[in-house]
Parts: sequence; C-alpha cells; structure tokens
Amino acid sequence: MISGKASGSDAVNILSGSGKMDFNLDETHTLLQPSSIREHFPAIMKGKRICTNNAATTQIPQELLDMSRELYSQYDNVHRGQSSASIRITEKFEEAYKKIAAFIGSKDWRNVLLYRGTTEAINAVMYSLMTEFEDGDNIVTTHMEHNSNYIPWYALCREITPKFGRKIELRIAGFDRESGELDLEDLERKVDEKTKIICCTGASNFLGTKPPIEKIVSIGRKSGYQHPNGLSGSYVLIDGAHLVPNTPVDVEKMGIDFLAWSFHKMLAPVGVGGLFVRREILETLMPFQYGGDMIAEGKVTAEKVEYNELPWKFTAGTPNIIGTILAGEVTELIVDMVLGERYRHISKEERTEKAMEAIQEYERGLTQYLIDELTSIDGVTVYGPKDASRKTSVISFNIAGQHPMDVARQLDEVGIESRAGCHCATLAHHYLGINPPASCRISPYIYNTMEEMRYVVRAIGKIASA
Ligand SMILES: Cc1ncc(COP(=O)(O)O)c(C=O)c1O
Repeated sequence: MISGKASGSDAVNILSGSGKMDFNLDETHTLLQPSSIREHFPAIMKGKRICTNNAATTQIPQELLDMSRELYSQYDNVHRGQSSASIRITEKFEEAYKKIAAFIGSKDWRNVLLYRGTTEAINAVMYSLMTEFEDGDNIVTTHMEHNSNYIPWYALCREITPKFGRKIELRIAGFDRESGELDLEDLERKVDEKTKIICCTGASNFLGTKPPIEKIVSIGRKSGYQHPNGLSGSYVLIDGAHLVPNTPVDVEKMGIDFLAWSFHKMLAPVGVGGLFVRREILETLMPFQYGGDMIAEGKVTAEKVEYNELPWKFTAGTPNIIGTILAGEVTELIVDMVLGERYRHISKEERTEKAMEAIQEYERGLTQYLIDELTSIDGVTVYGPKDASRKTSVISFNIAGQHPMDVARQLDEVGIESRAGCHCATLAHHYLGINPPASCRISPYIYNTMEEMRYVVRAIGKIASA
C-alpha cells in the first residue's frame, strides 16, 4: 500500500525518489504543449493537483474565472430590460449561442438549445417527443450508455407511457465483452420500422468506446419509421458528453438529429449543456418547459398562446446567463489555448477543427500509454478497446482482490485524482459481470502530461503488488 497524503509534485517524489519537485513536461507533441496549457489553470499551478478525474468534470481556466467576476459586475437579465446593461448582456448571451453553434458545425445557430447539462438535454428530448410515441413503437439504446441516456428512455417506456395506455418497447444493443466495441449487427437487428429513436453514446464514459456514428445514422435512416412531421427514418440521438470536449465534431456532416453534451466537461463551469436539434425536427418539436420568454411578445390570451422564435421557444424562464456566456467563450478559448498564435491565417472553422484534432491526438498518446502499461501489470484488468484510436481518454480498470474504492483512496493518498464506482455506466458493469459493479477510472485531459501518466502507472503498479 502507498501511504502518506501527498499532493501534486510532492507526490512524485514518493514514488520516483528523484528528489525533484517539478514534473518533467513532455513537449514532443507538435501542436498541443501541455506546459503552456497548464499555466491557465489555478488548480494545477496553485493547487499543484494531479487532475486526472476529468470524465467527472474538468478544471476552470483563470480566464473564465476572471471573466465571470467581470460579468457579474455588468450583470442584468437578458431579453428583460431596456437598460444599456441589459442590452449589452443580451448581446453577449446571444453571441454565445452563435459561438457554440459554430463550434459543433451547426449551420444555423438557432438549432442549438441550451439546458443545464447532458442529462437535462436528453430529458428535454424525451419529454418533447413524449406525446408523439405511438402504441407499439420502440426505442433502441445500448448497454454502454451512461444512466443519463438510459433512465429517461426506461422511464418513458416503463413508467410514463403505460399510464397513457401506450406500450413502447426499450431494446438494448450489446457490445463485445472482450473488445468493448458496440455490436453494430445487434443494434441493426433491433432497429425496425417501429423504432422512433436510436439513443447511443458518442463515447462511453466507462469503456471509452466510440461507436461508429455515421453507420448508426445510416441504420436509422433506412428503418422506414414515419414521424408525424412527415420525416422518415428513426431519429438518432448522440450523447456527446465525452465526444464534444476532445473530438472535432461537425453535426451536419455526421447527419445526426440530436447531440447532447455538457460544458463542465470541457473547461467551463457547471450548469450549461448543449442540445443540437436538426431543423426539420425542431420546427415541430414541442417545448419541454413552459413559461416566460418562450412565448411571443404579447401573444398570450386566455384562449391562445403563441410561441417565441427559435431558439427562445425552448428557453422558458431566466436562463443561466453568465454560464451561457462562459460556455460560448470556452469554445474559442480552448482553441486558442491549443494553437496559440499559430494558424491565425486559416478560417475559424478550420482552426477549431485543427485544435480539436490536436487534443484528440494528444490524448490518444496518453491513453495508449496507460493502456499498454496497465495491461502489463499482474492482476490489473483494463476495460474497453485497447487501441486508443478507437476510444476516448478514459481508462477504467480493476485490480484483482482489491475494491476499486480502496484503489481510488490509495491513489488519492499520493495525490492522484481518480473515480471509483460504476460511473453511472451501471448497465455496462452488469453486462461485463463485474461484481461489485464498480471500477476505478483515470481520465486525462489537455493539461495532463506524460510524466503524470508515468506517475499514475507507478502508483497503480505499487498498489497491485501490495
Ligand atoms: C457519457 C455521459 N453522458 C451523460 C453524462 C451526464 O452529464 P451531466 O451530469 O453533465 O448532465 C455524463 C456525465 O458524467 C457522461 O459521462
């Protein structure tokens, strides 16, 4: 057992015995330079933390902390005042929607709705579509979903629609227990002309698996399901919580109908999640929440209510104003952090794509290293694909004979932040027969270094050999 609480660089000494206090930062990656990225984060620079629990939430850069303080001194409500302050903050708020839409390649900023996070965004889709489901319809999801993309559909099928006398079936596609890859044939078999929606992760937060989105879209398009708005083919909803923060995403090219994600997993504060909806669907979609600002100015009578234009039809009540502005800001800040002054000559879209590719490539290096090293330690089982190019940067593992909670506690004692539990991927833990249904997870992000990964490997090696 490793003992003695240590933090950040002090902890390195415990394991390496090098006597050096600083991490030896790897600068071999051509575009993404972790040393310059780390300087933006007080949690790392001042807190000296080894922030490797990023699948749970990421750290906030100084720029956003400063911006938040500044914004609160200029603060007023949006769409609800004629003061200069209200007009200025409304402009910034609406600008944020445009930045967010551009970041995911949405050709129209009005196709992006903002909610509290991925969970609320997926619930919004479920409630908005609820009345459209017909008796005998089905929903196809997978055994690798986060509970946020399973429980809403479970509740709809098992608890909500039966109360209205409608029977909707929930079908769950499997995955290969060895490779962690989605069983696409199983998914295809489960989709038929009664499949209203396919709900699939873009990247599993436990296995890391990235299912082939284009293939899933093509399966959905061919199903022949007829929606009341005239569209044909099963809708495809992608849970992008672990896709959008580290992958170039172009919703138009991907052809998906719904994409949900959370900004607190990509450097912004908690409280804002995006939901892209294809325009043809959005035009006739029912709102999920009703109230102020989502109605057309003056168009409310005892007889009839008319709704506001998009996307405000879907923003009932005072929104998370500052959170939204910070979420918009982070879509540009993350690109600037990675590229700095480089590639200023190319378009904003190309710059975003380049930065996200660099993040993906950098994280693949860290992830492959962790997979290779951890799989070679006696007693360690690593879950999901072993080829980092087929997964996102989460490495979930167990050590034979040790409870993952104890492993996480021992890691914390040497300053390594991890998460133990089922990570809300409860279905997948049961599917793999992991008992208790839990694992320990390390999830690097852009500010982590190869040196930190070596330290993590040494620490896990010591725990496994104890
Ligand atoms: C894959 C996945 N989907 C959905 C969620 C839910 O995100 P949030 O808690 O931000 O709503 C998470 C959060 O961990 C996740 O990892």
